[in-house]
Amino acid sequence: MFLNRCFCFLLLLPPNYTEYVEDHDMAQKAKEMFYHAYDAYMLYAFPHDELKPLSRTYTNSLGELGNLRGEHLSKTYNGVALTLIDSLSTLAVLGNSTEFAKAVQWISSEVNFDVDVRVNVFECNIRVLGGLLSAHQLASNRELGLMSEYDGGLLTLAFDLGKRLLPAFHKSPTGIPYAWVNLKHGVRKGETTETNTAGCGSLIIEMGVLSRLTGDERFEMAALRGLRKLWSLRSSHDLMGTSLNVSDGTWISLSGGIGAGGDSFYEYLMKSYILFGEDEYYDMFHDAYLAVLKHMKHGPWYHEANMNTARPTHLQFSSLQAFWPGLQVLAGDLKAAMETHEKFFGVWKEFGVLPERYLWKDKALHPTEKYYPLRPEFVESTYALYHATKDPRYRDMGRVVYESLQKFAKVNTGGYAAVKDVRRKSLEDHQHSFFLAETCKYLYLLFDDSFMSTDNYIFSTEGHPMPVRPRSSQHFFREDEDVCHGDGRSPAAGSSSGTNPLASKICPNLLGTGSSEARQLSTCHQEDRRLNHRCTTSRDCGVAADTCLPRSCSQHGFCY
Ligand SMILES: *[C@@H]1O[C@H](CO)[C@@H](O)[C@H](O)[C@H]1NC(C)=O
Ligand SMILES: *[C@@H]1O[C@H](CO)[C@@H](O)[C@H](O)[C@H]1NC(C)=O
Repeated sequence: MFLNRCFCFLLLLPPNYTEYVEDHDMAQKAKEMFYHAYDAYMLYAFPHDELKPLSRTYTNSLGELGNLRGEHLSKTYNGVALTLIDSLSTLAVLGNSTEFAKAVQWISSEVNFDVDVRVNVFECNIRVLGGLLSAHQLASNRELGLMSEYDGGLLTLAFDLGKRLLPAFHKSPTGIPYAWVNLKHGVRKGETTETNTAGCGSLIIEMGVLSRLTGDERFEMAALRGLRKLWSLRSSHDLMGTSLNVSDGTWISLSGGIGAGGDSFYEYLMKSYILFGEDEYYDMFHDAYLAVLKHMKHGPWYHEANMNTARPTHLQFSSLQAFWPGLQVLAGDLKAAMETHEKFFGVWKEFGVLPERYLWKDKALHPTEKYYPLRPEFVESTYALYHATKDPRYRDMGRVVYESLQKFAKVNTGGYAAVKDVRRKSLEDHQHSFFLAETCKYLYLLFDDSFMSTDNYIFSTEGHPMPVRPRSSQHFFREDEDVCHGDGRSPAAGSSSGTNPLASKICPNLLGTGSSEARQLSTCHQEDRRLNHRCTTSRDCGVAADTCLPRSCSQHGFCY
């Protein structure tokens, strides 16, 4: 089959490859683009969250991200320098060690997450937690020469932030995290129970890296438990819907796709497999990916589909779908990636930028979603395809992207503004932090990827490079330690033949009462030891895979 498990590693571009040829002129221009955005943020908005480039002021937007109805906004929250945190890894990629070190020092000493603000768990995870974790690893890498002295301050902050996100997982009866959490007060009483597939299904990279860097298993376990539960809710077609209820795991919207609300769920299954080396992620990715190809692909385009009937729902391209060809590069499905990417580029050429939605069947702009907030996904895939093929055509596309951004989005007094209407090219007074974290970074890497030769990286969905460590050090949970009390079974030391050391040990011990902070992880997922599907005592029944609670044996010998 086209999906070859080994092929993806060939495309991972291991360290020391030297084939690329830099395009200094375009790399320099991409760099200037970043600084035009960064310097304006630092001048008019820092230490607040994001720049409003037209009015040259700021917004404390961390509490607003994903909050379309503007609910429960904080009156006291004053920003955590979101754009600076999101820019750290780009400064590293551009090789600006002076500014990187200055920013790391400022963030380590000044940023405080003990603030009364309700944040979107997904947004906070990918932008803030991911930004800190990536920068921490880059700062710690002596060979990069970014900092002569680094005390691990970013990891301390990330650890603190991670703990503030945990209530979203621990307060949920299903383990699927709440979409919202207050950094100071945890999950509010009466908090909305609605979340979406991408929002709760793309936390595992940041939470996993945090666990592995701190040695505290809680983060990875919480994210993995949520991900497993989410995956268990797939339909018989292996399709997912978009929004669901965290309280009882029921779907609210049965229509799902690879764009808004679904995108990074697929991305993180593949990328966490590469990063952590656990087969379980690949197995999920494999099934989820094949289902998308089978039920959502329409020639080079993708539509959304009803998860239960597998029938098409919306025949639309959405700007977020543009990450997909980049993901297919990792999956080794290059030909399909190129065809789809070519179509997306056609949309870019038609409008000069990418509209949020485009009705490919009718060849028409969506009536309301006509904006382009300077999203990175198209240039991200362009970068991935260039490095997989070395076809100069992709750099030509990068030049087109660059020219469009200069022409339509650049604000002369500083910064780049989101495009409100792709036809009129009217602007909105907002420079999103992902423009600096991703759009500028991928455009630069397309023309100069010398950074990539410093390590083997995988990019988070916010464009933050995470070093891929050698397989042998991947197993976070020590295999020689018998943590499985009560079942008399020692996990096989150094087992490699298909057994996954993580798989048997993910259940948090939910039996303890106490606060989520004090809750101890983990007892392990005990084997179901029934003979002939009958139990004699409750000890035979193990732990329920969906709730992680010990099951009981009925008087008739059935586990429940
Ligand atoms: C690093 O960034 C700062 C702030 O934008 C800038 O003043 C400086 O010139 C940059 N250094 C290099 C080497 O690009
Ligand atoms: C979610 O499920 C709970 C428990 O079944 C229910 O009380 C609540 O109304 C549901 N929320 C939504 C948004 O459907």
